[in-house]
Amino acid sequence: MTEEQTLHEIFYCSVLAQDLPAHAVGAIVGQARARNAERNITGLLVFDGLRFCQHLEGPRDAVEALMRRIAQDPRHTDVRVVHEGPLETRRYSGFGMGLAESEGPDLMAGVHALEGEAALKHFLALRSSFDISG
Ligand SMILES: Cc1cc2nc3c(=O)[nH]c(=O)nc-3n(C[C@H](O)[C@H](O)[C@H](O)COP(=O)(O)O)c2cc1C
Repeated sequence: MTEEQTLHEIFYCSVLAQDLPAHAVGAIVGQARARNAERNITGLLVFDGLRFCQHLEGPRDAVEALMRRIAQDPRHTDVRVVHEGPLETRRYSGFGMGLAESEGPDLMAGVHALEGEAALKHFLALRSSFDISG
């Protein structure tokens, strides 16, 4: 794929809104896949039943605009951008938005406890342990 604009990545963590059932996540991802494909955004959303971590990548303007919408979404709280910056090559070119369910709370709690690039590195290292559906 030829990239027409500078690639950008954003990694954030958040917590499922209290009154929302965990199965609502399926609907979020279904819609996200269609919309991300239109905007050339790819990424991975990991959910452990309570916590989210999402890694977004794509053209800078599109990724920043999406992050602004996501930050206002009442379906989650405590949205915290942990790392963002320019990106050389995509990591998730295979899927518009992969979804992985993390088993047990420990892995994601570990990522949530970290800051900045350390959190992202930890997340990326965990990727191989996730069962990702694209
Ligand atoms: C955890 C989480 C992840 C989301 N990921 C995406 C995504 O990757 N792409 C997307 O278009 N919307 C995503 N959304 C939904 C957006 O917050 C928003 O509802 C959607 O972009 C539609 O916005 P609009 O109705 O203002 O156009 C996500 C929402 C949540 C709670």
